[in-house]
Amino acid sequence: MFLTSITVWLLCFGTTVISTASTKSTFVSTLSKDAQDLFIESMDWLDRMYDADAGYVYDPSATTALRHDTRTSAWYAIGLLARNQNDDIDQAKRIIKNVISGQFKDPKDQWFGTYQQYPEEPTVGTSAYPPVIYTTWDPNWRGFIGTAFIIGLEEFPDLIDLQLTDLMHRSLYNNTIGDSYRVGGVDGDNLYPSYTNPSLMRAITSAWTGNTFKNGNMTNAGETYAKEIIDLFDRADTLSEFNSATYTGVSLLALTMWAKYAPQTSIMSSKGKQILQDTWKTIGTLYHAELRNLAGPWDRGYGFDMNRYFGIIAAHIWTLVGKDSAPVIEKVYMMSHSADFAISPLVAILADYHNALVPQSAVDSLTQFPGEHLVNTSAYSIPYDSYPRRITAWLSERISIGGESFNETVVGGPAINPTQFNPAVIQWNTGDGVGFITLHATEAAIDAVAGPGYLNITYPYGTSASQFQLLVSTFAKQANVVSWDDVQGLSVTPSGTINPDINITYSMTDGAINDFTFWNFTYSMPEGSTEVPNILLEVRLK
Ligand SMILES: *[C@@H]1O[C@H](CO)[C@@H](O)[C@H](O)[C@H]1NC(C)=O
Ligand SMILES: *[C@@H]1O[C@H](CO)[C@@H](O)[C@H](O)[C@H]1NC(C)=O
Ligand SMILES: *[C@@H]1O[C@H](CO)[C@@H](O)[C@H](O)[C@H]1NC(C)=O
Ligand SMILES: *[C@@H]1O[C@H](CO)[C@@H](O)[C@H](O)[C@H]1NC(C)=O
Ligand SMILES: *[C@@H]1O[C@H](CO)[C@@H](O)[C@H](O)[C@H]1NC(C)=O
Ligand SMILES: *[C@@H]1O[C@H](CO)[C@@H](O)[C@H](O)[C@H]1NC(C)=O
Ligand SMILES: *[C@@H]1O[C@H](CO)[C@@H](O)[C@H](O)[C@H]1NC(C)=O
Repeated sequence: MFLTSITVWLLCFGTTVISTASTKSTFVSTLSKDAQDLFIESMDWLDRMYDADAGYVYDPSATTALRHDTRTSAWYAIGLLARNQNDDIDQAKRIIKNVISGQFKDPKDQWFGTYQQYPEEPTVGTSAYPPVIYTTWDPNWRGFIGTAFIIGLEEFPDLIDLQLTDLMHRSLYNNTIGDSYRVGGVDGDNLYPSYTNPSLMRAITSAWTGNTFKNGNMTNAGETYAKEIIDLFDRADTLSEFNSATYTGVSLLALTMWAKYAPQTSIMSSKGKQILQDTWKTIGTLYHAELRNLAGPWDRGYGFDMNRYFGIIAAHIWTLVGKDSAPVIEKVYMMSHSADFAISPLVAILADYHNALVPQSAVDSLTQFPGEHLVNTSAYSIPYDSYPRRITAWLSERISIGGESFNETVVGGPAINPTQFNPAVIQWNTGDGVGFITLHATEAAIDAVAGPGYLNITYPYGTSASQFQLLVSTFAKQANVVSWDDVQGLSVTPSGTINPDINITYSMTDGAINDFTFWNFTYSMPEGSTEVPNILLEVRLK
């Protein structure tokens, strides 16, 4: 009652007063309810991990003997600017200065302009700590930390004093120069336009920084790179790094920045919106609301069931349809890969702008399974693919099947990582959660086709030594699994050119992949076989 009359009073006495008052009423209170929930819950969690003595957040894994984590700290700092309570701004400034003090400063180094992974680390480039890309230094942290700084500078310019603004600009300048050293295939780097999430971050960071410094070269470099990503996208309206619970979430954040921060004259402005919308349309066809999972195939997954590991796309879904309908559990911090929950303040800050762009049909698909349907699309990762990967999926009540057919130069997808690359996947409702069957990649070329009730996997260049390693979930009602008959809730009939004698082993906890234990159903080929290796799995819900 009292608050209402104040508002009325303000309305009567002019706009200047109102705008001051609404700034005071805090940015967070202006967010939609679900974005606010995500913001508050992720910030509460980050608060508990913040080490105010150091001005850094501890490594969220809690398995590093109290080392700190630079990227998490940068994300938290932007959250503090957004919250702006008590001494939040002072802490944010301290953290940002710390992060920049740990930015590599020698332009001769390949790692110039990226940031230390943790402040306790030895000097990169010493004999004890040699420069090993993605190990002792991470080139992608230029993108992750640079985009966080830009969000802070764009959204909260009045809270960052001129001196710190200048420092952040200079940091972004070095960041952009260092990032320009990255050329896929050179010096062990893999940043091609097809490496979608860092590519999208590079393009906006370079163009934004170029515009800030009125440096036409930098702006053009960002625009030119954006054009390469766009050309790749326009082929089939799909991102090269396709269908990843984690990285599609990062890409959506970067695309939001394209749409929101690139000037009208930039190619990123309108294209950012369109790519974001088309990407959501694809998500809408692959997301299975009953299972709360993206159907396979997953180019890069950090688990086999999104209800048990945190994918960044879950944060976007949370802001769109609420926590209760999102693929997270109540205690998010207990999920595998929960360290990525630390990006949530950024997702929440941009949620209202982003969510307004998401097609309604995609939003609907997040809560309501639309009924049986097929998906047929493609994605192209140059230079790894001989031809675009052909993606097929079948989704029906309580079950999804997805596969992709490709011929690549590497095993395990462009990330060269069989634990992330899941080219053929079945998921279903076991009655006690989601069950999975996923093919562990052992071949560089696979034809995996999904259709109603089947998954057909062929190795076009396979030999009699080829194996089909199918990783199968564990089951609440079936502790011990010795045959397909023990698979809970799904009847599976295998056939093909395989030797029918299956070898079933348990992963053991130390053999878990992405923290998931599994039953390893491995088929070999008959000795001396000259047939093309093939296995057809025909499945039916029990
Ligand atoms: C940027 O790089 C220059 C060297 O080119 C270095 O002197 C300067 O300290 C760096 N700035 C920041 C903010 O790290
Ligand atoms: C832009 O690039 C051109 C050609 O490479 C170079 O001559 C010029 O010095 C650059 N300008 C800036 C501001 O970096
Ligand atoms: C998928 O689409 C392509 C191109 O439109 C077509 O050639 C192919 O037969 C389709 N595949 C399936 C399984 O429908
Ligand atoms: C598959 O890739 C290999 C080289 O990696 C190439 O020799 C072969 O022609 C390719 N096959 C197809 C069907 O593209
Ligand atoms: C499965 O793939 C094999 C090899 O390509 C093919 O001969 C067979 O017809 C396919 N089966 C189905 C059901 O699509
Ligand atoms: C099954 O796999 C285990 C573990 O690799 C191996 O020791 C065993 O020989 C295999 N058994 C058969 C029948 O292939
Ligand atoms: C699955 O088991 C086979 C033996 O049957 C083994 O060679 C393979 O390494 C196992 N795969 C995984 C991913 O654990």
